[in-house]
Amino acid sequence: MEKQALRKHLLALRQNLSREARAPLDAAILQRVIELPEVQAAQTILLYLDFRGEVESDGMIEHCLAHGKTPVAPVTLKEERQMIPVRITSLADLRMGAYGIREPLHLPELEVPVTAIDLVILPGVGFDRKGGRLGYGGGYYDRFLPKLRPEVPKIAVAYELQVVENVPMEPHDTLLDALVTEQGIWRRT
Ligand SMILES: Nc1ncnc2c1ncn2[C@@H]1O[C@H](COP(=O)(O)OP(=O)(O)OP(=O)(O)O)[C@@H](O)[C@H]1O
Ligand SMILES: [Mg+2]
Repeated sequence: MEKQALRKHLLALRQNLSREARAPLDAAILQRVIELPEVQAAQTILLYLDFRGEVESDGMIEHCLAHGKTPVAPVTLKEERQMIPVRITSLADLRMGAYGIREPLHLPELEVPVTAIDLVILPGVGFDRKGGRLGYGGGYYDRFLPKLRPEVPKIAVAYELQVVENVPMEPHDTLLDALVTEQGIWRRT
């Protein structure tokens, strides 16, 4: 219940950001993400396709496509409660998937083995500066992240208003390695 109340509060805060207020924040976050050594070192990057006022991610995907990297996004299988990593070949080739989230076309030849992913950039509802993350409550990322190669960095992007002192964490919640906001980068030490 504590998680649920915090989710509601933080989603309302994020929803209140106007388009005009959001644009410079998205630009600042994009710039920081592009400069991350983890991004520069990675070939295959699992990103996300923003919805419900998440930090805009199209610029990150365009950066990957323009720099010969392989951007990948989750295709959500609702019945199985699983995310399947699928390659994004173009931002023009997306469709509307489960929960109203854009996703790449789920063609077998575009599926990417989880072990091929070098870096994960993920969104969320709330974060703290201890590696804590609060999602929408589906547990999709919490089930997915443990399948990655253990050394793969898990880096979240968020607006500063999504960062709180303490996100309630449960044993199934995976800790993040870094958090990028418009104001700076937090890293787990
Ligand atoms: N590793 C796991 N194995 C089994 N069930 C899990 C696992 N992780 C999460 N769940 C289930 O998902 C539910 C939601 O998890 P949680 O509240 O942490 O979601 P969330 O982190 O907000 O969402 P998401 O990860 O999708 O962004 C949990 O109550 C639990 O039942
Ligand atoms: Mg969780």
